[in-house]
Amino acid sequence: MSLARIHNLSISLDGFATGEPQSAEAPFGHAGERLHEWMFATRYWGAGGSEGVDNAFAERHGHGFGAEIMGANKFGPPGWQDDPDWRGWWGPNPPFHTPTFVLTHRPRPPMEMEGGTTFHFLDATPADALETAREAAGGQDVRIGGGATMVRDFLAAGLVDHMHLVQVPIVLGRGVRVWDGLEGLEDGYDVEAVSAPSGVTHLTFTRRPAAG
Ligand SMILES: NC(=O)c1ccc[n+]([C@@H]2O[C@H](COP(=O)([O-])OP(=O)(O)OC[C@H]3O[C@@H](n4cnc5c(N)ncnc54)[C@H](OP(=O)(O)O)[C@@H]3O)[C@@H](O)[C@H]2O)c1
Repeated sequence: MSLARIHNLSISLDGFATGEPQSAEAPFGHAGERLHEWMFATRYWGAGGSEGVDNAFAERHGHGFGAEIMGANKFGPPGWQDDPDWRGWWGPNPPFHTPTFVLTHRPRPPMEMEGGTTFHFLDATPADALETAREAAGGQDVRIGGGATMVRDFLAAGLVDHMHLVQVPIVLGRGVRVWDGLEGLEDGYDVEAVSAPSGVTHLTFTRRPAAG
């Protein structure tokens, strides 16, 4: 069974997965790089990095995926849809290495990149997008890649099988929050938490099998 999984989604104590305003110069707005400093310190991110708890979680981002779905605001800064040459933040060889579906109300033709990533642009419901991504994933899992808005929509639609969140001990106060409208989400999941020496807390939500 191909699962829909979220990995390394970093949120502030008050639940924001990005600050504001998002721009080409500051993709995470006033959050800067603070949501991901824990990851930059790991070997997953770069040679010489730490190999402890944070690394063990971080590197799971790379295993078992045959496709990714991301929101339009992860793919580019506000207004990228008006730039016909925009090809994402990641250069000629993006780190996805699979078909990657960008949800947008202004789709464009697919873009084949180096290293196995092809960006496809979809205007579809979360359920339809997941079905399309599953077909492309060849039996492997589908990564629900963020940002906050699309994660919230996929959670609200009951489509997420497993979620790894990283709660970073900062209070952002503003930005885009994951939790709005998801009251009682935990009821459908087994939730575990591991605190790392770096100060972040890793939370895993694993969907409970349906009763009966
Ligand atoms: N903290 C983390 O770990 C993490 C992870 C990933 C990303 N991020 C950050 O989060 C930010 C982006 O998050 P966000 O909440 O602003 O936006 P987002 O979830 O990336 O994208 C939302 C946008 O995607 C399009 N969209 C979403 N669902 C759609 C659907 N079903 N059909 C068609 N279009 C759809 C819409 O854009 P249009 O209407 O414009 O088409 C919508 O406004 C960025 O700063 C990114 O770097 C953080």
